[in-house]
Amino acid sequence: MRITSLLLCLSLSANTNATTLPEADVSAGKDKATLCFACHGNNGRAVMAEYPNLAGQNQAYLRLALAAYRDGHRQHAVMAPMAQGLSDQDIVNLAAFFASLPQANTAHSASATPDL
Ligand code: HEC
Repeated sequence: MRITSLLLCLSLSANTNATTLPEADVSAGKDKATLCFACHGNNGRAVMAEYPNLAGQNQAYLRLALAAYRDGHRQHAVMAPMAQGLSDQDIVNLAAFFASLPQANTAHSASATPDL
């Protein structure tokens, strides 16, 4: 049931995004991304193995993930507050910037198998 609503929610946002998204400005996204570098790295490769790499991630996925944190559909004590103040334009720009970076092609040098 929960998964069904999540999928419905994602597909609704995807449809909305297709018609109403602002144009992406990669350079503005780079400026805004200074807020993100402390954890996700200034090249989109996370500073710790417990944080996700964003470099080269799918642009649409990044938009959906950020909107989900901002709008409360995805919750995380550290990440959700980071997305609180983002506008739709910020999200589009940030997604375009991180998607444009070359993907990390090696496993993170820190512990690749965190204790669970
Ligand atoms: C204090 C550390 C920190 C900062 C700063 C931070 N993040 Fe995150 N971010 C995280 C963590 C930890 C996660 C994993 C959260 C989870 O498990 O849902 C995450 C997850 C994400 C994800 C989802 C990745 C995925 O694979 O699903 C995106 C997108 C993201 N962050 C973008 C950003 C952006 C854009 C900024 C700057 C506006 C930012 N983050 C700032 C720690 C941070």
